[in-house]
Amino acid sequence: MKILAIESSCDETAAAVVEDGTRVLSSVVASQVAVHHVYGGVVPELASRKHVEAIVPVVREAVESAGIHRSELDAVAVTQGPGLVGALLVGFSYAKAYAWGLGIPCVGVNHLEGHMSSIFLGDTPPEFPYVALLVSGGHTSLYYVTGPTEYELMGQTRDDAVGEAYDKVSKMLGLGYPGGVVIDGLARKGDPKAIAFPRPYLDKKAFDFSFSGLKSAVGRHLKDYPDPDEVRLHNIAAGFQESVAEVLCHKLIYAAKVKSCRHIAVVGGVAANSRVRAMVGDAAARRGLSFHTPELKYCGDNAAMIGAIGYHRFVEGSALGLNDDAYSRA
Ligand code: KG4
Ligand code: ZN
Repeated sequence: MKILAIESSCDETAAAVVEDGTRVLSSVVASQVAVHHVYGGVVPELASRKHVEAIVPVVREAVESAGIHRSELDAVAVTQGPGLVGALLVGFSYAKAYAWGLGIPCVGVNHLEGHMSSIFLGDTPPEFPYVALLVSGGHTSLYYVTGPTEYELMGQTRDDAVGEAYDKVSKMLGLGYPGGVVIDGLARKGDPKAIAFPRPYLDKKAFDFSFSGLKSAVGRHLKDYPDPDEVRLHNIAAGFQESVAEVLCHKLIYAAKVKSCRHIAVVGGVAANSRVRAMVGDAAARRGLSFHTPELKYCGDNAAMIGAIGYHRFVEGSALGLNDDAYSRA
């Protein structure tokens, strides 16, 4: 079964063709990062306008590079929410019209379920049940997953999401938006032990997270050392990243122990982080756990993951009516 998937919830216009929820025939992502960079964050109105410009060529390229004709598509899947509603509406309206024109069903899916399903876009998906950590710009959540569309929330952040903390720290350091990948790069040149930042919630036997205190600790350090030289900048990035990775890794491994799972997963934009991937990989290997994380291109926002969850929702019989609307909050 071939599904055309469309994603436009934030600042990426993306389309993909995915077969049976696992095989990616094409995946096209048009990023608006350069547009929003100068403003230090995503400007919703600009995002909507850029989606309008990109949606037609991006979908066309996805269908063409999949090597199929659109008449071979079985369904369309689209992100219905959560996200910026003006941005969502571009992909959502286009998807409904596209499906209507072809006379095939259109399935609306949840963006977070898309990230969760990115783990199935490969040859070695985790075995159920497993524990999954979803880390993105808007969410930091731990789930106990028992089926493709069945999961239980074990814990989540009480304040900032991890990606948000990365972006805010990046702004404080004058490194711009988005910050994750920049801090990741600088951290590799620094000494993670040089500056001791707190490990929020590490001692608590709970699955909630908190990152605003860590972000503030970086802010306090910058008050003491304004205009850090290159070495200090690298050490701040490394110290911050080490703290984040340790907390995420500890909670994920502990969740696997509590739930007696042999398989664990990390998904979402921050799953691209080199230290998180390495630390969780090492911890899993030491305990004989099987660690799963998407290829880098499927960590951040993309449409292939929407095709993966769209397949399962389609099989369950989910379909949109023309009057259905996008939603901004989960
Ligand atoms: O999943 P995503 O693309 O969008 C949301 O649904 O939020 O996640 C974006 C977030 C941003 O906050 C970005 O700074 C962060 O993921 N990110 C990273 C890295 N690459 C992207 N954070 C840490 N390390 C990275 N390498
Ligand atoms: Zn996302």
